Amino acid sequence: MNYRKSLFAILALVVGSASAQQRIPEVEQLLQKMTIEEKIGQLNLLTPGGGVATGEVVSENVGTKIKSGQVGGLFGVTGPDRVRKAQEIAVKESRLGIPLLIGSDVIHGYKTTYPIPLGLSSSWDMGLVEQAAQMAAREATADGINWNFSPMVDIARDPRWGRISEGAGEDPYLGSKVAEAMVKGYQGDDLAAAHTMLACVKHFALYGAAEAGRDYHSVDMSRIKMFNQYMQPYKAAIDAGAASVMSSFNDVDGVPATGNKWLLTDVLRDQWGFKGFVVSDYTSLNEMIPHGLGDLQAVSALALKAGLDMDMVGEGFLTTLKKSLEEEKVTEEDITNACRRVLEAKYVSGLFDDPYKYLDSKRPEKDILTENNRALSRKLATRSFVLLKNHNNLLPLKKNGKIALVGPLADSRENMLGTWAPTGDFNLAVTILEGFNNVASGATIEHAKGANISDDVAFAKNVNSLGERILIDERSPETMLQEAVDLAKNSDVVVAVVGEATEMSGESSSRTDISIPESQKKLIRALVATGKPVALVLMSGRPLTIPEEFDMPVSILQVWHPGVEAGNAIADVVFGDYNPSGKLTATWPVNVGQIPVYHSAKVTGRPATESGEFQKFRSNYLDAPNAPLLPFGYGLSYTTFDYSNLKLNTREISQGEGITVKVTVANTGDYDGEEVVQLYLRDVVRSITPPKRQLKGFQKIMLKKGESKEVTITLSPDDLKFYNAQLEFVSEPGDFEIFVGTNSDAELSEKFTLK
Ligand code: BGC
Repeated sequence: MNYRKSLFAILALVVGSASAQQRIPEVEQLLQKMTIEEKIGQLNLLTPGGGVATGEVVSENVGTKIKSGQVGGLFGVTGPDRVRKAQEIAVKESRLGIPLLIGSDVIHGYKTTYPIPLGLSSSWDMGLVEQAAQMAAREATADGINWNFSPMVDIARDPRWGRISEGAGEDPYLGSKVAEAMVKGYQGDDLAAAHTMLACVKHFALYGAAEAGRDYHSVDMSRIKMFNQYMQPYKAAIDAGAASVMSSFNDVDGVPATGNKWLLTDVLRDQWGFKGFVVSDYTSLNEMIPHGLGDLQAVSALALKAGLDMDMVGEGFLTTLKKSLEEEKVTEEDITNACRRVLEAKYVSGLFDDPYKYLDSKRPEKDILTENNRALSRKLATRSFVLLKNHNNLLPLKKNGKIALVGPLADSRENMLGTWAPTGDFNLAVTILEGFNNVASGATIEHAKGANISDDVAFAKNVNSLGERILIDERSPETMLQEAVDLAKNSDVVVAVVGEATEMSGESSSRTDISIPESQKKLIRALVATGKPVALVLMSGRPLTIPEEFDMPVSILQVWHPGVEAGNAIADVVFGDYNPSGKLTATWPVNVGQIPVYHSAKVTGRPATESGEFQKFRSNYLDAPNAPLLPFGYGLSYTTFDYSNLKLNTREISQGEGITVKVTVANTGDYDGEEVVQLYLRDVVRSITPPKRQLKGFQKIMLKKGESKEVTITLSPDDLKFYNAQLEFVSEPGDFEIFVGTNSDAELSEKFTLK
């Protein structure tokens, strides 16, 4: 069955329509047979534990509840045999035999983990992003999973927020492309196929805008900003056919997303035409109590009425909806509608045809952690790395001589996968030390830890909540430092692997100081002081503030958290088997005080001076520039690219017309390489203040050394549109400026007019 045809052609007619014959007949027949308790049961999502519980509650008596029809889905249960046990209880022992949805957080690979999403987005390669999601789907479904709590498409402009690691960064245009590619990768063309799974777009909505970058914090935003800058990726995922949506923890306009009717019904269903089901985040329904919206019965009724269909873990629906029905706080129709949407998802997954479709015990061995998958993960990782600086063209290194490989992350298996990899096993990860030895066997590679990730015991304890990621050495910091310095002095070149431990970013891992911890800064200073050439391999789940390190005579390769093939992939790039092509998808600030700093900010009525020099009574700082350390879209290569000959097909267009932009890009350096050609647009005059510039197109191209190519990017009429004060999506007559180049500071520009 073709999912988009089935769900959209069948359901486009159905949901919201009163006419029963337009609905899926099997689901309608089933609904006829269901008691109110059984309908409420379908709205209940539980986790029996065993995986990572991200809240304080873990479900109890799960087997008994499934048997009595009180469970619609499970998550945190994996493996065909375990899932089969649960599915058999549902199918054979519950009165109506309705199969379960089996969910999971497959955020960046299932067992073959690949780079954290922020890293993956830095590849700007949508074909690869889709392939990555496809591989994740094949592995996860081989292990019994049919529903994935991904993609996370929250726009994030505050790198203090640890979950910036889980998304595609700051930009709605790029974020939308990534969202679309991931949904396609997970769901394929046929949701009922055994290797595809339902996607769940999260966290709807605005979760990335949590105040002060503190997780689960409040969000307050104008609707103009929401629609112009934050909503697009959710919508893009839904337009791509995403089967489900997860409501976020935060409030939106003063009402938590989980109980926000405007969000879940008016926007999502009525305006955007979403036909799937909405699940809460982990106990986000119950969390409406401390949010201040009433007791469990009140918030459950509110959420159901708002358009929430499934309650994750909190059992508010299960324990209160019947009472609310009796007290006429909800109607049977409200409950039936939610239940219908859950059942329809099961139907399109093919679970009614064959509840055991995802439970072939031979598949894990065939499909999971295969050589091909690991090879893809290695490739994805190399594409995610961003070369921030290449002092004296130190990189790539030769595969010979004496290399000092130092730093607390150089031989740290437990920090390679990155955050939110609950199904991955870090014991399978390739360390950087191993990767270097694999790829550069002709070199002499010696290792010294040099420093702890952090010496701060209290901080380390917080980071280590889910397992030891910051391992504070028994040796004193001075001893470790001396060992590294001695090694450096005896080597030709130093590679220092520094940055963040895995759980220094991710959920509930916000930081107010996003610099490299002091213990490692000391190490870097000491290594540079030896006078040996130094390359930093910088690992993190977020943009960091690195003005000091950036000023040093060092090369810096940003590698995020690369996944199971970390060491091999890093070695591939460090030794030049792959020429880095990644570009930042979130701005790197000079300091925390600049946050939020992003490329599409407004100009203000008192823009700072062109030169950046401070001027009284302008919008600038006394103690820092307005410009970030590294702009959105930034990333170097071992070669150089030159842009010229920017041309438009016309200088004047009418409403409804697009425009074609051509530019010549030449590889002027010494290596073959890939470049991400970026196009930014500025709407010069319009009825609401425009952003300085906005990404509106990009293309990743490969150029041989000495080669040049003419690149064409076409802007569609929609690319010129924005949401006006009435929230209508319009383009307005006037002048536009186009900038094309290698990052968001691109200077090559042209103008055109929309009549
Ligand atoms: C996270 C979600 C995740 C859910 C289930 C929550 O804490 O916010 O992103 O899907 O847990 O694991």
